[in-house]
Amino acid sequence: MGSAVEAMKTGAYDYIEKPFEPEEFQMVFNRATEHARLLKEVKLLRQRQNECDAGEIIGSSASIRKLQSTIQRIAGFDTTVLITGETGTGKELVARAIHRMSKRKDGIFMAVNCAALPESILESELFGHEKGAFTGATNQKKGILETASGGTLFLDEINSTTPNFQAKLLRALEEGTIIRVGGTKPVKIDIRVIAASNINLLEEVRAGRFRADLYYRLNVVNLEIPPLRKRKEDIPLLAHYFLNRFSKKYHKEIKTISHGVMEKLLQYNWPGNVRELENTIERAVLMQSGNELTGVELPDALVTDIEDSDDQIVSIAEMEEALIRRALQRFQGRRDLAASALGISTATLWRKMKLYGIG
Ligand SMILES: Nc1ncnc2c1ncn2[C@@H]1O[C@H](COP(=O)(O)OP(=O)(O)OP(=O)(O)O)[C@@H](O)[C@H]1O
Ligand SMILES: [Mg+2]
Repeated sequence: MGSAVEAMKTGAYDYIEKPFEPEEFQMVFNRATEHARLLKEVKLLRQRQNECDAGEIIGSSASIRKLQSTIQRIAGFDTTVLITGETGTGKELVARAIHRMSKRKDGIFMAVNCAALPESILESELFGHEKGAFTGATNQKKGILETASGGTLFLDEINSTTPNFQAKLLRALEEGTIIRVGGTKPVKIDIRVIAASNINLLEEVRAGRFRADLYYRLNVVNLEIPPLRKRKEDIPLLAHYFLNRFSKKYHKEIKTISHGVMEKLLQYNWPGNVRELENTIERAVLMQSGNELTGVELPDALVTDIEDSDDQIVSIAEMEEALIRRALQRFQGRRDLAASALGISTATLWRKMKLYGIG
């Protein structure tokens, strides 16, 4: 018995006492192989979990936390979802997260950019076509709505589709069937549609550019992702998240972000949103040596803003007042950030605010 304990301690999976029956040996052997299989599976799941972490929605702002909790609540239901947000705010990231948290997670996640394809191609890609449906349709072809059955279809830039296409999509969603281009027979489909738009779709409806019926069908759940400039408190978290990711990727040891760089990141208004931040950090990591990120390249936001404004001549004082108001507005009243954006001390900012009667 002593040697059995010893064997287990050194990593043996099990032991059999002699003499043993063949069935007994078979049983232990089966258990051992099952054990090995489970270990492998755990490893695979851990790996998949890590990959999932790469799709994590980072952010601590109220809007992102609300988004995270809404996703949790709705992911499990098979409703259509409409995601709106400027370019680079994370619409696809959110769509993937919903898919991963849904019952369809083992099915396909298919992303189609509606703006990238002309209507006829988009239609035959999605709905498929029968043989001879149009010149070049030499074979019957199943569309994505059929082939991605059991999965999720992400329709990006849905706003750029035509009314004709919108009507077909609506019918497919309402009836759960499609008719292939050139066909007559309805085919059952089982797909969850998540649509995204980088412009306000309701305005498109009001302007008559988007079908109201499809809008209401898609809008069962509407997730709005605010631009990064409206949730600047997410910048430090995101910046560190990307720093870690790219440090790892490029085998660097950069662990921290210098105060100066962080200030620059907070000052900038990120027209390209999180994607722009991600690319900025990636570039900075590549250029950096040592263990702190001390440099970052960004367009000068304030200067561009002045150049963009109308070319009326105003007094320096007026200009100064306008700049201060704008900076305070941009940083939601945070004087420390506004002052550093303006290149003045908080004391000076305070004094000038009193002078112009701001605040
Ligand atoms: N909250 C977030 N946390 C972590 N990464 C994010 C977040 N938001 C966006 N990203 C990253 O930013 C990049 C752009 O996101 P995504 O492609 O989802 O944006 P999008 O809204 O679909 O943009 P577009 O309108 O240009 O298609 C991706 O690499 C994504 O992983
Ligand atoms: Mg996208």
